[in-house]
Amino acid sequence: MAMELTYRGHDAQPLDDAGKYIHKPEKRLVCLSRSLRYFLHEQRPLFVLLGMTLASLLFSFFPRPSPVAGGGFRMEITDPKGWRLTEPHHLTSYGGQNYHRFVIDTAGRGSVGGKVPLGLKRKGLRIVVTGGAGFVGSHLGDSVIVVDNFFTGRKENVMHHFGNPNFELIRHDVVEPILLEVDQIYHLACPASPVHYKFNPVKTIKTNVVGTLNMLGLAKRVGARFLLTSTSEVYGDPLQHPQVETYWGNVNPIGNQSSSVSNKETMINVSSTGVRSCYDEGKRTAETLTMDYHRGAQVEVRIARIFNTYGPRMCIDDGRVVSNFVAQALRKEPLTVYGDGKQTRSFQYVSDLVEGLMRLMEGEHIGPFNLGNPGEFTMLELANVVQETIDPNAKIEFRPNTEDDPHKRKPDITRAKELLGWEPKISLRQGLPLMVSDFQKRIFDDQSDATTASGTGTGNGSG
Ligand SMILES: NC(=O)c1ccc[n+]([C@@H]2O[C@H](COP(=O)([O-])OP(=O)(O)OC[C@H]3O[C@@H](n4cnc5c(N)ncnc54)[C@H](O)[C@@H]3O)[C@@H](O)[C@H]2O)c1
Repeated sequence: MAMELTYRGHDAQPLDDAGKYIHKPEKRLVCLSRSLRYFLHEQRPLFVLLGMTLASLLFSFFPRPSPVAGGGFRMEITDPKGWRLTEPHHLTSYGGQNYHRFVIDTAGRGSVGGKVPLGLKRKGLRIVVTGGAGFVGSHLGDSVIVVDNFFTGRKENVMHHFGNPNFELIRHDVVEPILLEVDQIYHLACPASPVHYKFNPVKTIKTNVVGTLNMLGLAKRVGARFLLTSTSEVYGDPLQHPQVETYWGNVNPIGNQSSSVSNKETMINVSSTGVRSCYDEGKRTAETLTMDYHRGAQVEVRIARIFNTYGPRMCIDDGRVVSNFVAQALRKEPLTVYGDGKQTRSFQYVSDLVEGLMRLMEGEHIGPFNLGNPGEFTMLELANVVQETIDPNAKIEFRPNTEDDPHKRKPDITRAKELLGWEPKISLRQGLPLMVSDFQKRIFDDQSDATTASGTGTGNGSG
């Protein structure tokens, strides 16, 4: 079958009767009236109007990024649980544990809140808390991913979050790498009480060095902001009082040395002093790593130097002086004071600390920041407050002091006040009863907890 090809290169020109060429009628006007008719007939204006209404509804109901200094964007979110925060003026009561509104300011944070593929709804910030099953970490809220190896932390500390779909718990040791898609890392994983960090000093150093390296590596990889919970212990036995962040500290990295001669060779006998340095020096190295990742890899970092903190869910009998005294007074045992009891410490209630940590994470400043309560108490004064709160007849028993125990510890919090707008609100006399009721419940209702951990007090431990 022959294929028929038709030439359509041009139309035949119309001719009049006399065979003359006639101009075609102007097509443009016809087209215009035809499209107008089509537009009207198919009810296009209705659809256009509908589209515009939908668009304006979308803009008014959904969070809309607006430019802020630094090239990032600012997003306002109302959290149903009233948990997260950023700007100080949005804070309502922290003591009552509730923020009702917060602002995520991603100014200058290239990765946080990065591009979300079309069709995927942007979720809230994804936050990981290493050591989140421990005392402090368990107060950081329920919209987090907790990573913990349960060395000193307990599932019971976070069990009340289990029903929350925004809460996740991962058993993991930070000494091993982990990959998680997150926007913020609160790095708390590390035993904080002398009893626990002296238990396996090499592991403590590893957790502080390798664990911090791993989490900084993660922050670099996924572009997350990283907050290190360092400690007042980086000041060692301070020669400056109170301690400001610019003070470099007085730490003994190896302990007191004494020569002891053996039969064949001269040996250096490292005595039991300096055993705190696995923690002190570990945290100092963790601070160094944090700053090196910031300078070298542009990781956004924050450093908090935490002073003695107390509150519900602290480990019972962990050697820290507040938990020791409270547990002893509740069990009708004498309160053990090490040394002459004139060493001073400052005690911060945990909700004050958590507020400071969150302000630091959300704020613009790297730190380090001292987060502690400047109210200074001698051990004997603390024992008296515990007697007043629990049992006026509780006896005090003096024991020899542990070595390397700092004589004085008091934070200068001027920097945190000025740059974070933060200062503690809860006094020892207000906070202690809140902790006592938690301890009471755990010691008397949960005997197994009390018996497994009993008899481990070793000093005025600071963490
Ligand atoms: N509480 C204080 O007074 C105080 C003072 C200064 C600094 N800090 C710091 O704050 C952080 C939290 O302290 P805390 O009082 O809640 O102590 P904690 O011992 O109650 O909590 C530490 C948590 O880290 C976990 N952990 C330890 N090693 C780990 C590892 N290798 N991998 C994963 N998880 C691990 C523990 O299981 C625990 O849940 C610590 O980094 C501590 O150094 C606390």
